[in-house]
Amino acid sequence: MKRILITGGCGFVGRHLVNKLLSEGSDVWIIDNLFSGKHPDAWLSESYKPKVHFVQENLVEFLNNNSDWPYFDEVYHLAAVVGGRAVLIEQNPMFVAYDQVIDSTFFSWAVKNKEKIGRILYVSSSVAYPNKLQSREAGGQIAMKEEFLDLRNNLGEVGIPESIYGWIKVNGEYLAGVTAKKYGLPVVCVRPFSGYGEDQDLSYPIPSIALRAVKREDPLVVWGSGNQTRDFVYIDDFVDALCLAIRNISDGRGVNIGLGQATSFKEVARLMAEIEGYSPKIQPLAEKVEGSFTVLADPALIKSLGWKPKYSIKEGFVKVLAKIKLDLKNSR
Ligand SMILES: NC(=O)c1ccc[n+]([C@@H]2O[C@H](COP(=O)([O-])OP(=O)(O)OC[C@H]3O[C@@H](n4cnc5c(N)ncnc54)[C@H](O)[C@@H]3O)[C@@H](O)[C@H]2O)c1
Repeated sequence: MKRILITGGCGFVGRHLVNKLLSEGSDVWIIDNLFSGKHPDAWLSESYKPKVHFVQENLVEFLNNNSDWPYFDEVYHLAAVVGGRAVLIEQNPMFVAYDQVIDSTFFSWAVKNKEKIGRILYVSSSVAYPNKLQSREAGGQIAMKEEFLDLRNNLGEVGIPESIYGWIKVNGEYLAGVTAKKYGLPVVCVRPFSGYGEDQDLSYPIPSIALRAVKREDPLVVWGSGNQTRDFVYIDDFVDALCLAIRNISDGRGVNIGLGQATSFKEVARLMAEIEGYSPKIQPLAEKVEGSFTVLADPALIKSLGWKPKYSIKEGFVKVLAKIKLDLKNSR
């Protein structure tokens, strides 16, 4: 039986990861201040509650103020100020800068307590890749390969990411590399592309477009030109990849989590409308931010570890739309 620590375990990714690890029989510790997370009472089944130790506190304060730690076989560091880009990354980037404090405190704590930690996973992001490779100016769909951002030696180049959030993830990956190389802790960094699922906050694009499609809005609007693409990955496949990565990689390298499939927001809207059985006009909202133009993974490394995504984009969208419909019905 493993004891596992998950920081930010009450967030979208964390909730799914906690449930997966509990289903494997592990004991799980969660540290989460519920800044954007949901209290475990809202999503954890009664039968699992005895296996979960939940601490509702700011991770920075909790790590700094406690010295008596049990042994953790695996530590997943997910806690971060994220929010859909309209909420924080665009409106209040300096708020997101607090992630720098969270990550620095986390890796300092890990190094100080290295005898009590088996393996570490740091959640970076596709946004850490250089923006010039993901921009319109790049002139095509360039699949991000892990070697485009390799911070484990001092020979590579660092490209400028698209936002402060990306910069902080680059910094976090650097700290992860130092933790692995200098202090000998097994660490992996994962770079998820666009994770989505039924219980994701409505400030994220997939649930918000799904809500508009369920309401059969016509025109059905999408942000920016609508031609910008993302590599969407369903949350169950996402957390499977996290577990594979932490158990198979230990030298601090980054690994992509994405299907290797670029889908534009216009295509997302079209597919959702098709699933809902109507044909609206798809209308781009040029005044809304579109972010990077192409965000596409090369998933060769994670697939070489045995990752086999179970959900196509259509299958994932069907699940999201069904849940939104159910929630709407229950709210009436
Ligand atoms: N969802 C995705 O597709 C995606 C893609 C790339 C990277 N990521 C990364 O995965 C991680 C989880 O993302 P998510 O989508 O679940 O976001 P989320 O906002 O749902 O989860 C983040 C969690 O961290 C908690 N938190 C924030 N500040 C904290 C603090 N100071 N102390 C303790 N807890 C704190 C929040 O309350 C929340 O529960 C983040 O590091 C994010 O950058 C997610």
